[in-house]
Amino acid sequence: MINQYKKITTNSIKEMKINGEKISMLTAYDYTLAKIIDQAGIEIILVGDSASNVMAGHETTLPITLDQMIYHASSVVRGVNRALVVVDLPFGSYQGNSKEALSSAIKIMKNSGGHSVKLEGGSEIIDSINRILTAGIPVMGHLGLTPQSIYKFGTYSVRAKETSEAEKLISDAKILEEAGCFAIVLEKIPSELAKQVAESVQIPIIGIGAGPDVDGQVLVLHDMLGMTHEFNPRFLRRYLNLYQDINSGVKQYINDVKNKDFPNSEEQYR
Ligand code: KIV
Repeated sequence: MINQYKKITTNSIKEMKINGEKISMLTAYDYTLAKIIDQAGIEIILVGDSASNVMAGHETTLPITLDQMIYHASSVVRGVNRALVVVDLPFGSYQGNSKEALSSAIKIMKNSGGHSVKLEGGSEIIDSINRILTAGIPVMGHLGLTPQSIYKFGTYSVRAKETSEAEKLISDAKILEEAGCFAIVLEKIPSELAKQVAESVQIPIIGIGAGPDVDGQVLVLHDMLGMTHEFNPRFLRRYLNLYQDINSGVKQYINDVKNKDFPNSEEQYR
């Protein structure tokens, strides 16, 4: 079901929360898949730094560079007509100081054509968020499990089960809202806490592994399409099994080539 918006903006996203309409968001890293999911009606496309894992095969999101993010984001933007494109600021491009954060965000906006940026963290990066916002660049926050801090956490397990971390998360969400972020991603936290956060701020909360009582959901496209098959978190729903489909299609092609079945008489020029 595609809603009435011709083009999705940060204002449409905020309006959707007010109207009680759930927000759909998926990742994309390339032109072809971005075009398909945009035409299917997705509201937000995240050019996630998960490209580091999914596209480049790294173990973490840390190695991906600003230039690589710009390459992925500009490819996505060329495939998109309607969705709001959010681009992750990669590890090391905003934590140093707010000036560096602003220059990274400007580089992304100028060179990729993306519509907004996403940063991981709360109060500790608020100066960077403020500076980016003053330049007129919309910011999406990201709290809970923040994969750029994996070496601090030591594990990808559920965050904020302890009261102190849960309290900091709620306080960070309010700080991000007050600063002017247009939405926040909440990753892998208890559903009850996510519900409490969504109720305590006016801006949309988009969950991944954060239960149903938030304002929208995001998944990594390659995971929900079943292209990856070794990653099986509880929150992941697979809508297709493309790993299997691609594997059997390629096997069929190999057979056809070996058996001289491909190309046939119609599949050639005379
Ligand atoms: O990089 C990414 O894919 C993300 C999502 C998991 C929200 O940040």
